[in-house]
Amino acid sequence: MKKLFAVLMLAVMPVFSFAAEQGVHLDKVDIDVSDKAAMQDGARTFANYCMGCHSAKFQRYERVADDLGIPHEVMLDNLVFTGAKIGDHMNIGMQPADAKAWFGAAPPDLTLVARVRGTDWLYSYLRSFYEDPSRPWGVNNKVFPNVGMPNVLAPLQGRQVVGCKQVQIVEDGKKQYDPLTGTPLTHEACDQLTVLPKTGALTEEQFDEKIKNLVTFLAYSANPVKLEHQRIGTYVLLYLAFFFVFAYLLKREYWKDVH
Ligand code: HEC
Repeated sequence: MKKLFAVLMLAVMPVFSFAAEQGVHLDKVDIDVSDKAAMQDGARTFANYCMGCHSAKFQRYERVADDLGIPHEVMLDNLVFTGAKIGDHMNIGMQPADAKAWFGAAPPDLTLVARVRGTDWLYSYLRSFYEDPSRPWGVNNKVFPNVGMPNVLAPLQGRQVVGCKQVQIVEDGKKQYDPLTGTPLTHEACDQLTVLPKTGALTEEQFDEKIKNLVTFLAYSANPVKLEHQRIGTYVLLYLAFFFVFAYLLKREYWKDVH
């Protein structure tokens, strides 16, 4: 019994430790892993901005191309920068030991990261870098404090800084208003992120969309069979609908004699 308890505790422990780390507020994102256009955009961002440091080594280029509806030549010309062949795994040239020396931590493989961290975490993390001159790369991250990763998306997002802002008070998930005047009740919060206007190539909405697409690609990558399940699921439902008609006709035929 004790042993069983110990095993159970071990099994739930990672959940606890993650829960503790997630004290910070995470923005919710609605991911649709059947949206191929979103995933194609995400794959492009991943190849251009992430694969300098991160591999997705449990995934093959060919599989991604086929699943996302990208022709093989287009994939090879636009998304493969390492001279890899279409059937190769999505590896990178950077050696973990070098990476550790440069960044203080080796960039982990990202094939399964959406399963480990969750999509809300990824979406929030990638939008939460802010300028912090005390850090080696001049940036810190609200979701992953003192992270070793530089803000590679800064050219798109612009310069994000942390500072004080009036924010609306929220209690039990409800925004608070003055009962008499109806104006929003605010307080000053000093951990607010703001993008300095006109410092990035994308607007805030465009950047959020880009990150959503990237996270959608990572969610697909962590669970590529999900697409297949959806496809098979559709066939199963069609089959059932079709079968239902015949079953119903057959039933009518049998009961005709009974009545
Ligand atoms: C210049 C190298 C570099 C690039 C480019 C880069 N990263 Fe990172 N990334 C790192 C390093 C180093 C870490 C490890 C940080 C640490 O543990 O402190 C990391 C950590 C992460 C983590 C946290 C993983 C975890 O579970 O601990 C995620 C998620 C991530 N990167 C996603 C991305 C994405 C998505 C991109 C592309 C937009 C990207 N990274 C581009 C270097 C990079």
